[in-house]
Amino acid sequence: MSTTLIQLAYLVASVLFILGLRNLSSPRTASLGNQMAAMGMLIAIVATLLVQGVVDYPVVIAGLVVGSLIGAVAASRIQMTDMPQMVALLNGFGGAASVLVAGAEVSSRITAGELPTGIVPAAIVASALIGGLTLTGSLIAFAKLQEWMRGAPIQYPAQQYVNASIALVTLAACVALAMAPLDLQLFGILTALALLLGILLVIPIGGADMPVVIALLNSYSGLAACATGFVLDNSALVISGSLVGASGLILTKIMCDAMNRSLGNVLFGAFGAQSAVASVSADGSDQGTPTAYTPIDAAVIFSNARSVIVVPGYGMAVAQAQHAVRELTDTLAANGMEVNFAIHPVAGRMPGHMNVLLAEADVPYERLVEMDEINPQFPETDVVLVIGANDVVNPAAREDEGSPIYGMPVLEVDRAQHVFVIKRSMNPGFAGIQNPLFFKENTMMIFGDAKKVVIELNDAVKNY
Ligand code: TAP
Repeated sequence: MSTTLIQLAYLVASVLFILGLRNLSSPRTASLGNQMAAMGMLIAIVATLLVQGVVDYPVVIAGLVVGSLIGAVAASRIQMTDMPQMVALLNGFGGAASVLVAGAEVSSRITAGELPTGIVPAAIVASALIGGLTLTGSLIAFAKLQEWMRGAPIQYPAQQYVNASIALVTLAACVALAMAPLDLQLFGILTALALLLGILLVIPIGGADMPVVIALLNSYSGLAACATGFVLDNSALVISGSLVGASGLILTKIMCDAMNRSLGNVLFGAFGAQSAVASVSADGSDQGTPTAYTPIDAAVIFSNARSVIVVPGYGMAVAQAQHAVRELTDTLAANGMEVNFAIHPVAGRMPGHMNVLLAEADVPYERLVEMDEINPQFPETDVVLVIGANDVVNPAAREDEGSPIYGMPVLEVDRAQHVFVIKRSMNPGFAGIQNPLFFKENTMMIFGDAKKVVIELNDAVKNY
């Protein structure tokens, strides 16, 4: 295939990536966006396979078979709630691929005696640095989320100085490699330092901040791929890498804003070190006794309500209650009630977690209302049903200046007339802190697994 045709194929692939991303911004068009991006990737892969002299088909096919098998088994086995870990691993592999490809290119240039010029030396440095850091950083994020490692921040004396010193040595190695880009030993040293830095930078970050770290590492894996694109002179890789880099950064910013935290605070604030203490002392005993209701008691209040807002959270995902929730809301709507869903941007464990689950259960998109739009509606709402959500409805974020989540924008459910909270116990949520909502006068707890309780509530409302 001629170079012009290959470049043209890369251009088509890039346009499909961009249109795919554009379509992913709305639930209505997300599926089409996914297909467009997948088609773009297929075109890019086929075009690359046709580049003369680049490929060794038996090796490529062997890699494709082994990789597809592992990917298909892992993807079919993974629970929806474990998706952040899976994304972390995939980011890490992306980083590893960038390091390996850049290393292979360095060694083949050594063999060919071909000195890199222009931007290529800087791109070799960036591939080793960002790729290495992304690999180990992602593996630590994976281990924390999978609970193979303690989720609490790991801290030791003079940690910032140790990190800063290693960062300085790494910077020196970057400069040295940029000046001698075909020195394979230097490439190895820089990669080793980047791997170490990835570990050291992620261990002091608390488990509660891992989803943000994963979004950031996702952005890094894109930047590493982009740098490798410059090393290989592959425009499709440069464009797709920069798209991943930019979208990962935007996502990181959205998540930080939703928690009212700066990126610096997420990366260096060791969030979770104090909140673990808070969860022990705030055991709820000094806040009164929560009011417990059964689904049958709750059905009485539901049956007299005109407006209901459902607030889903991580517990709905754990219980896989989304279909039962859809059925309950269908019953309420059939009884003439106005039913909406309040979606907090960081409810659950990954961006868009609630939207994905509710879309899977065929909840109409127009019923999903974002936080800023729905917050003013709570005072006029008869009943709020909180299903497995905790931190995102915690009024301490508004009222308690001493709370670790003070300032985080939350769904102001406590302003509604009646609030029902479905969860299994009084255990805290992801941030590890107690929730004063559960002790308010207008709040009634229904203890139990979200799916079971929602089914019982639906039956009780139908039979009331
Ligand atoms: P959480 O605060 O984590 O609370 C979830 C609640 O669900 C828990 O209190 C748990 O209580 C309950 N639960 C678990 N399994 C259940 C089941 N089977 N049935 C019923 N209830 C169950 O969740 P949230 O309100 O969605 O908040 C998300 C948290 O993740 C926030 O702290 C947020 O900052 C953090 N976070 C999220 C993201 C993204 S992108 N989503 C990113 C960064 C951080 P019991 O154990 O008592 O049942």
